[in-house]
Amino acid sequence: MRAVIQNTVGEPDVLVIANQPDPTPKAGEVLVRVKAAGINPVDGAVRAGYFPLLGEPPFILGWDISGSVEALGAGVTSFKIGDEVFGMPRFPKQAAAYAELAAVPADEIALKPKGADHIQTGALPLAGLTAWQGLVRHGALKSGQRVLVHAAAGGVGHLAVQIAKARGAYVIATASPNKLDFVRKLGADEVIDYTKGDFTSQISDIDLVLEPVGGDHADRSLKVIKRGGVLVSLLNVNDTTKAQASTHDIRVERMSVVPDREALLELGQLIDAGKLVVHVAKSFPLEQAGAAQAFLATKPIGKVVLTV
Ligand SMILES: NC(=O)c1ccc[n+]([C@@H]2O[C@H](COP(=O)([O-])OP(=O)(O)OC[C@H]3O[C@@H](n4cnc5c(N)ncnc54)[C@H](OP(=O)(O)O)[C@@H]3O)[C@@H](O)[C@H]2O)c1
Repeated sequence: MRAVIQNTVGEPDVLVIANQPDPTPKAGEVLVRVKAAGINPVDGAVRAGYFPLLGEPPFILGWDISGSVEALGAGVTSFKIGDEVFGMPRFPKQAAAYAELAAVPADEIALKPKGADHIQTGALPLAGLTAWQGLVRHGALKSGQRVLVHAAAGGVGHLAVQIAKARGAYVIATASPNKLDFVRKLGADEVIDYTKGDFTSQISDIDLVLEPVGGDHADRSLKVIKRGGVLVSLLNVNDTTKAQASTHDIRVERMSVVPDREALLELGQLIDAGKLVVHVAKSFPLEQAGAAQAFLATKPIGKVVLTV
């Protein structure tokens, strides 16, 4: 098979196409013929060596997979050959999604919803599972709550706005000025241009904040959360922030996304119900993985995907 490998950490040009042995599915695994593989910020961080999740190169990046079942490992009864599937297998271990074929655990993928194409479902898993797990599992979101989604035009944020709306929340979203219309169209009830003034002076009484930005965002977000509310952070939260949260009776959850078949099915149902649309800013052919990662770093609206 062809795959994108890297032999050293570095700039996007370390990503090169190479012939690799076809993977063989072990017991409990399926072999997926990859049609699309999503790009996420973590891919670039691992590529560059800032976040050495996969140890030393050589390795194959990528966790988001959408494709069709090519072969079944021993004992797999949940899928048949030809089924169209998607998922975020093995994260944070190597899934090797930037490739023509990937062998993945059958219980970490799900049938692809019919209401989206492979490019969209290839873009969905990691960002969608993060938004779902952040809001529903860590945040225990309830209908009628006031939710603040930061970075609402990004990969995670644009899905989080729609998931929160679908679950009956009142959604306030932050983004830069040229992205506010997009976020409004996703269904956000209020949008805040974070480049014009501090969001802490514009809102209050928030039940749940989803925080993917970092810096002082966690600290500032505490100011707008009501007692008994929750801050779900995708990035590290320091001890001072945690102590301050506890003084105000605010729960802090620092989450790391995990494979989650049940949530994939929920995301698929939202898509088929017309309540969730994956916005893909641009797709690139597999051999342009480096250019695709560089494009994601320019903060396009929504997601970036490789087509295989
Ligand atoms: N812990 C986990 O499990 C987990 C899972 C997924 C992602 N993450 C992390 O979460 C972050 C976001 O991921 P992503 O896939 O959504 O990235 P993305 O698609 O690159 O989106 C990032 C967004 O942040 C926005 N942004 C930057 N500064 C902002 C600010 N001060 N206020 C509001 N928005 C701001 C950018 O747009 P504008 O600035 O132009 O509005 C951009 O849309 C990344 O750091 C990623 O590594 C963590």
